Amino acid sequence: MMLAIIAGCALLPMNFCKSASAGDAAPTFQDVASSIYGQAVGDDDSGENFVFGLTARHTPVDRTMPGEGKFKNIFYFLPVTALYYDPEHYYVSTQKVEGVFKTDECVLCHSIQTPRIVVDWKASKHSKGGKTKAMKAEQVVGCDACHGTNHQELKMPGHQTCAPCHPQEQKDHTTGTLGSHAHAWHIEVNEFAWQIGKPGEEVASCAQCHGIVSNRCDGCHTRHQFKPSEARKPETCGVCHMGVDHAEYEFYYNSYHGKILMMEGSTWDWDKKMTPKNYRVPTCAYCHMGEDGNHNTQNMSTVYNHMGMFQVNRGAPRYKSKRDAWIKKCQGCHSPRFAAEQLYAMDEQINISFTKWREAVGILVGLYLEGLFDPMPADLAPDWTGGHTMNLLPGGAPRFYNVSNIERLAVEMIVYQVTAVYKAAAHMAIDDVTYNAGAFPMDRQLIQIKDEASKLRRISTLEKEVGIEHKAFDFWKHGEYTDLLTGYKRKEGDVLSKDECRHGDHPCFDEPEH
Ligand code: HEC
Ligand code: HEC
Ligand code: HEC
Ligand code: HEC
Ligand code: HEC
Ligand code: HEC
Ligand code: HEC
Ligand code: HEC
Repeated sequence: MMLAIIAGCALLPMNFCKSASAGDAAPTFQDVASSIYGQAVGDDDSGENFVFGLTARHTPVDRTMPGEGKFKNIFYFLPVTALYYDPEHYYVSTQKVEGVFKTDECVLCHSIQTPRIVVDWKASKHSKGGKTKAMKAEQVVGCDACHGTNHQELKMPGHQTCAPCHPQEQKDHTTGTLGSHAHAWHIEVNEFAWQIGKPGEEVASCAQCHGIVSNRCDGCHTRHQFKPSEARKPETCGVCHMGVDHAEYEFYYNSYHGKILMMEGSTWDWDKKMTPKNYRVPTCAYCHMGEDGNHNTQNMSTVYNHMGMFQVNRGAPRYKSKRDAWIKKCQGCHSPRFAAEQLYAMDEQINISFTKWREAVGILVGLYLEGLFDPMPADLAPDWTGGHTMNLLPGGAPRFYNVSNIERLAVEMIVYQVTAVYKAAAHMAIDDVTYNAGAFPMDRQLIQIKDEASKLRRISTLEKEVGIEHKAFDFWKHGEYTDLLTGYKRKEGDVLSKDECRHGDHPCFDEPEH
């Protein structure tokens, strides 16, 4: 079928191959395709199979919820994202069942309504009754303790719900600077270019990962069992700490630590505290939360550097106490010299990766200053700030779309590969530092960047020679998808003042430069 379509392009009116853009009176792509395939353009709830998704519409406004913070007028959430991933701010109870109930009654109904939830709750310490340091007397922590008693005013529990009974864990969980679990929802995600610039449907997952870990406690103790033994295993952290840009989970399992865990872990008693006596190899929580189970995972001496995207020398004198703490941690099982040399190797591996990155950026900035990107930022759709910025220079945070090819290559290099060199080295994934994830894939990207730069320069030389003044094609700026980017929606007054920011202690970013 694809062949027929491509052939069709050559024969049909121009508009068939050009996507529809706002205010275009000419027939849209849908109209033309509809006439060829004999499928009417109609509602998207007909349940029919449409070639090219002929009639797909976008989420109706009454099914979206306003984003948070300063950009709520341009950015929106799907209901699930807001309701369940930031329950404190967004959850609304809309149940049909009426009444005020006690836990016995909740359990009775829910044994039929949601049987597994009841089984899990019954397996938890909450159902057995007990006492925490903060509680006056022993009690059963029933459904009502977390969700409330009135079925039409139910709550979805965020970390605030757990606070009265587990104040220490909640305090540590909500402590931490940029990059921490405490900040994961508020600043970086809601107001970061690769989310805020895009339609909410596409980037719902951002808020799901960042929301669970920031706004709730069951990211690591899944409901309704809430087990510390589960949170001590790497799989818990691996739900989020995985994938191209933060592959800690994969790297861990490519190390000796991970391999030994795979071989022996099923025979260990995971209810025990995380000490060298109890565990033969460390897990994520062992290294990052430690023997005292501190719930601020940044507490364990991580040097913040935007996920590895900025260069920082962790071996610098000012970080001596942090480095010593790591060496002490390794010393439960290794010699301090062995550990220190491993960490020093990480520092130098990171340094080399940044020489390659600088070589790439030098090429990009040179092209940009000479106006040789195809297209230049001015010929792209407006970015999330409403302006036109190069995505690697101040004001233009990294973007995966709405950039030229060479900029996209560079974003991948810094977000995927430079960070991988660091993460792989920090987690002793021998192969990944070099072959699989780090240095050699970076080589490929540097070659691709040079290859693209070379072509852009050669074409421009030719054009000058012949006297052609190239104007960027309109498809960089407009298209059915491209027209949905939030930069097009920016209006005067969209950025709320600081007082209107709902983030309390976590202030919103300053107004970005245009
Ligand atoms: C009479 C039966 C009954 C009783 C008693 C009952 N529930 Fe429910 N519950 C339901 C049904 C049915 C639903 C499905 C949603 C609805 O009501 O529209 C539900 C839904 C829920 C939800 C899901 C809400 C959402 O938005 O996803 C929660 C949470 C919940 N109940 C908690 C409780 C708690 C806590 C109690 C006790 C205080 C309780 N239920 C007592 C029948 C019951
Ligand atoms: C210790 C606190 C706690 C207790 C006790 C508790 N829940 Fe929950 N429950 C949670 C959390 C946390 C969530 C997830 C919140 C979110 O999605 O924002 C949740 C979500 C739910 C949901 C909706 C999500 C889903 O997976 O469908 C239902 C239904 C529910 N609980 C029912 C119950 C019932 C019934 C009981 C008692 C048997 C109970 N809960 C006891 C903390 C608790
Ligand atoms: C009304 C008080 C209360 C609330 C609210 C509460 N808990 Fe608990 N929690 C307890 C008690 C009591 C225990 C059992 C302590 C014991 O016996 O050692 C417990 C135990 C735990 C444990 C350890 C379980 C184990 O197997 O060792 C975890 C984890 C936990 N709670 C998480 C949570 C989370 C997460 C929330 C909020 C979603 C929450 N709790 C809400 C009182 C509460
Ligand atoms: C990043 C993952 C993670 C998150 C998020 C998390 N926990 Fe934990 N939690 C753990 C780990 C790991 C342990 C076991 C620590 C240890 O070995 O001492 C634990 C242990 C606990 C315990 C048992 C403490 C004890 O001394 O037995 C409680 C209670 C608890 N967490 C409550 C919470 C509450 C409340 C929240 C939300 C405010 C929360 N946790 C969020 C990972 C997490
Ligand atoms: C539900 C998703 C989720 C889970 C589960 C989770 N994390 Fe995280 N974690 C995040 C996010 C998102 C961030 C980054 C926040 C940011 O940069 O704004 C983060 C940040 C961190 C940081 C700080 C990184 C820095 O730059 O300073 C550490 C360390 C960390 N997590 C360790 C863990 C460990 C250990 C576990 C398991 C015990 C775990 N996390 C479980 C999502 C998660
Ligand atoms: C699978 C879970 C997951 C998803 C989905 C996810 N993130 Fe993250 N994100 C993380 C983790 C984990 C970290 C922390 C990584 C680290 O520090 O190594 C993080 C870190 C970040 C950072 C921190 C960089 C800094 O400067 O501190 C930003 C910004 C970010 N994510 C934005 C996003 C956006 C935007 C999306 C959606 C397009 C997204 N994330 C989707 C898990 C996720
Ligand atoms: C042997 C101890 C050890 C284990 C096990 C371990 N880490 Fe790390 N992790 C480190 C060290 C060392 C660093 C680098 C810290 C520094 O100096 O900044 C680090 C860095 C990190 C960072 C910080 C990245 C940033 O942006 O600054 C995250 C997130 C992280 N680890 C998550 C995990 C996860 C998830 C697991 C399990 C899959 C894990 N770690 C297992 C030692 C460990
Ligand atoms: C709880 C014990 C434990 C802790 C803590 C621990 N390791 Fe290990 N580590 C092991 C074991 C066991 C092995 C496998 C030994 C072997 O390879 O013969 C291992 C293997 C290694 C290896 C690969 C083996 C080799 O000779 O190259 C490296 C590298 C390593 N660890 C570095 C570290 C560093 C760095 C830290 C601290 C950030 C650390 N480990 C923390 C137990 C631990």
